[in-house]
This record gives sequence, structure tokens and C-alpha cells, in this order.
Amino acid sequence: MGIVITVTSGKGGVGKSTTTANLAVGLANLGQRVVAIDFDIGLRNLDMILGLENRIVYDVVDVMEGRCNLTQALINDKKSKSLYFLPASQTKDKDILSKEKVKKLIDTLKESFDIVMIDSPAGIESGFEHSIFLADKAMIVSTPDVSSVRDADRVIGIIDAKSEKAKNGEEVEKYVIINRLKPEMVEAGNMLSIDDVLSILALPLIGVVPDDEDIITSTNIGTPIINKDKSLSAESYRRIARRILGEEVEFMDFTAKKGLLASLKGLFK
Ligand SMILES: Nc1ncnc2c1ncn2[C@@H]1O[C@H](COP(=O)(O)OP(=O)(O)O)[C@@H](O)[C@H]1O
Ligand SMILES: [Mg+2]
Repeated sequence: MGIVITVTSGKGGVGKSTTTANLAVGLANLGQRVVAIDFDIGLRNLDMILGLENRIVYDVVDVMEGRCNLTQALINDKKSKSLYFLPASQTKDKDILSKEKVKKLIDTLKESFDIVMIDSPAGIESGFEHSIFLADKAMIVSTPDVSSVRDADRVIGIIDAKSEKAKNGEEVEKYVIINRLKPEMVEAGNMLSIDDVLSILALPLIGVVPDDEDIITSTNIGTPIINKDKSLSAESYRRIARRILGEEVEFMDFTAKKGLLASLKGLFK
């Protein structure tokens, strides 16, 4: 029986879909059978990051409404053969998902996959609650700025109140991913540090991903950065994937003094 990992955030645009795509590939590369589902109804973009947008025929709502079966809707990744993808619906009706139908779909997927990864809409959007209510683990993505952290804190409260686990008296395992860290800005006092973020959210850190222009390029060409050599952000994602599977992996040093270039050289020498 597989587990459900939801990648979520309070604010939009902080890197949920990028994180979902990279970790889904990373976990598949580690031998897991993974299905990534885009729950951001109306706003597709996980498909683009994975480079699978041209392969879409059916979507998650078609499956739930019985217009096709799961096998017809699931798209196999081009490179990682143990990774499958279920696209978001482009419907304008954002309230189309129902709890019962979501549960039926996720329960079915848990029978065939080790990991069901859900790319969630931001905390204020409808569809958000559907994406967190079945989660076993939640990866809360935040950038190191005050508004993103504050909104992440609210989302943590919602997960603790509204998830099925919470209703059964259990707790969803929650972890923080700090995305788009700019060490020079932290050093100059213009960005929250990792410690600042963690002291507000009071949750364990599972990874830090630096701000990296190559991530934008890799999205445009539909190849998640995680497979790139000699890339700090790729290495960050690879380490997060290993931590999700329970491995203890050292955190990289992102202090500006050392400089990203220096740590890059250190890491790959
Ligand atoms: N670590 C990063 N460094 C640079 N750009 C990033 C990083 N993470 C995400 N981005 C960019 O930020 C934008 C929003 O990311 P996305 O994953 O779509 O966010 P969300 O799903 O939370 O709305 C995209 O253009 C993406 O390429
Ligand atoms: Mg997104």
C-alpha cells in the first residue's frame, strides 16, 4: 500500500509544481513507483515541467467522472519509467472535485504505486483541501520571505485541522522545504535565514533549494533539473528525495561567505 505525499504552500508561485516534478523524478530514480497528480484545477503546469503536455488526452476529472479509466489517463514519463503522471483538468469549474471521488481515486492509486505525489493549489484556492485531506506526509514549500512564511503557517493549521489523519486522531507528517534561497541576501539581512523560517514554522526541515536560473530554463525545455550534473539545486532535490525515503543525508552549506561556486566545486570535485 502506497503513501500520499502532498506538496503544498500558503502562497502561490513559491515552487510547488517545480518541487513536485523534481521529487517525483528523484523518487522514481531511487526505484520507487511514483504517480504525480496535478490538483491545480484550471492551471496546468506540472505537465510542462515534466515535458509531457503534448501527451495529454484525459485528465484527473475525466477519471473521476468515469469518462475514461485510469490506464487511459496515466501518462508514463519519457525517461523515468517508474513515474506516471495524471494531469489537471482545464475546466473553469474549480469546485468540480468531490471528496468521495478524490478518495476513491487516491485509494485506487495507492494499490499500484509506492508514492502518490499530489501537486496542490495554493492554500487559498479551492481544491486545496482535497489535496491535503488524504496526505500521509506534507511538504510545505516556502520562500524565505515574510508573506510566504506567514501563509505557510496558516496552511499548517489547516492540515492539522482538516486532514483525514487529524480526524482519526493521528498527525500528518509535515516538513518544510525552503525554496529560492539567496545566500547573499540573507547575509545582507534582506532575506529571512533558514533558522528564521524554521523558528516561525516550528517544523523539521527536509531541504533547502537555492534560487537558480537554470530551474526556469529546465522548465521551459520540459526537463526537470534534478537529472542535471554539477547543479546545486539538482543536488538539493536529490538529497530531499533520499530524506523522504528515510535516509539521513547531510545538508549542504549555503553560506554566502563560502559562495555557491565554492560549494559547487567542493561538492563535485
Ligand atoms: N529554486 C528556484 N530558483 C529559481 N526559480 C524557481 C525556483 N523554484 C521555482 N522557480 C520558478 O518560480 C516560478 C513558480 O514556480 P512553480 O513551481 O510553478 O510554483 P507554484 O507551483 O507554487 O505556483 C516558475 O517560473 C519556476 O520556474
Ligand atoms: Mg503549481
